[in-house]
Amino acid sequence: MDPKGRSKWELDTPCLTIDLDLLDDNLQTMQARVSAAGKALRPHAKTHKCSMLAKMQLAAGAVGLCAAKVSEAEALVSAGIEGVLITGAVATPAKAARLKSLLRKTRSLMAVVDHPAGVELLEKQLSGSGLRLDVLVDLDVGHHRTGVVPGKAMELVNRVMASRSLWLRGIQAYAGHVQHIPRYVDRRAASLKALKQAAAVFRELQRRDEGCTIFSASGTGTAATDLAVPELTELQAGSYALMDAEYMAIECEDGAECSDYRPALTLLTTVVGVGHGRQVTVDAGLKALYRDGGRPCLLNSEFPKLQYDWFGDEYGKVSAVGRGALLPELGQVLELVVSHCDPTVNLFDHFYITRSGKVVDVWPIDLRGRCQ
Ligand SMILES: Cc1ncc(COP(=O)(O)O)c(C=O)c1O
Repeated sequence: MDPKGRSKWELDTPCLTIDLDLLDDNLQTMQARVSAAGKALRPHAKTHKCSMLAKMQLAAGAVGLCAAKVSEAEALVSAGIEGVLITGAVATPAKAARLKSLLRKTRSLMAVVDHPAGVELLEKQLSGSGLRLDVLVDLDVGHHRTGVVPGKAMELVNRVMASRSLWLRGIQAYAGHVQHIPRYVDRRAASLKALKQAAAVFRELQRRDEGCTIFSASGTGTAATDLAVPELTELQAGSYALMDAEYMAIECEDGAECSDYRPALTLLTTVVGVGHGRQVTVDAGLKALYRDGGRPCLLNSEFPKLQYDWFGDEYGKVSAVGRGALLPELGQVLELVVSHCDPTVNLFDHFYITRSGKVVDVWPIDLRGRCQ
């Protein structure tokens, strides 16, 4: 049955919904702040994995999209999206070959490099093809996951500058380790420290080559404060579009809970088991709600004292917290803000798009499962 026009409370569950007005507010808020600071926004699609949503971000003013992996970029490009930056470096011949095929489809593609061996792989793949790939040198500014340490960055820069098939456009410096630091002042200080190292490399790079114009970094947790870094040219924030419990729990300003961006994404789940004391069983477990990040929070105002916990693969447990808590009945639908949006979105095929509680559209999560 076509869900369009129906109330979201009639949808089969578990399912993901996006409130279109909240989503639009989040997109406009981030874009307005970034543009007012004279910077560009290239939002990360790894969080929503949806090319329809990516197109909304472009319409709001984004200069392109980020993709975590080559396979995510392939889906964005086949949806007709330009200006895709792949934020994870390629380390195998198989990936380099896929990257080359993708570059044949769109010359606006960018990738990152963080090791001379990766540079060699790309050069080997591209040599004789007549293709040239735009790249950023990816810096490790403290996360120790990917990237070259700033002290060795110029060595890698020299290597890329000597290449015929790669064109160095700038740097990437995503400080993933600081995005969820709860206290605003601590998070700001940690991020500015990380970006300071990257800014020094960027200045050096620009002295060497004026064509290096991109310094891409930042996430939802630090976007507001990173805008003050003069060298930074573009932001890669992703979660701000949908939001999740993990991000809702951090301070947005000194002492205030996060209120800049609202939870546009929610998960609907139904009570399928009652009669087990002060708890009921719902139909969303590990296979519908990723277990990482903050505790999912229940939005139904008639049940303010309930708490969600995972209860195996297919089920969750919703328990009464404190005295006098009302328990929902069998068949009641509950609405949750998910713990961590990225891996939860990856569990579903589509989003139900709602406005004032009514389904207005269904968007495929077309980057779902694309982890290569
Ligand atoms: C390289 C990179 N850039 C940007 C982001 C977006 O960060 P956030 O979702 O915190 O806004 C991520 C998220 O993990 C990332 O890995």
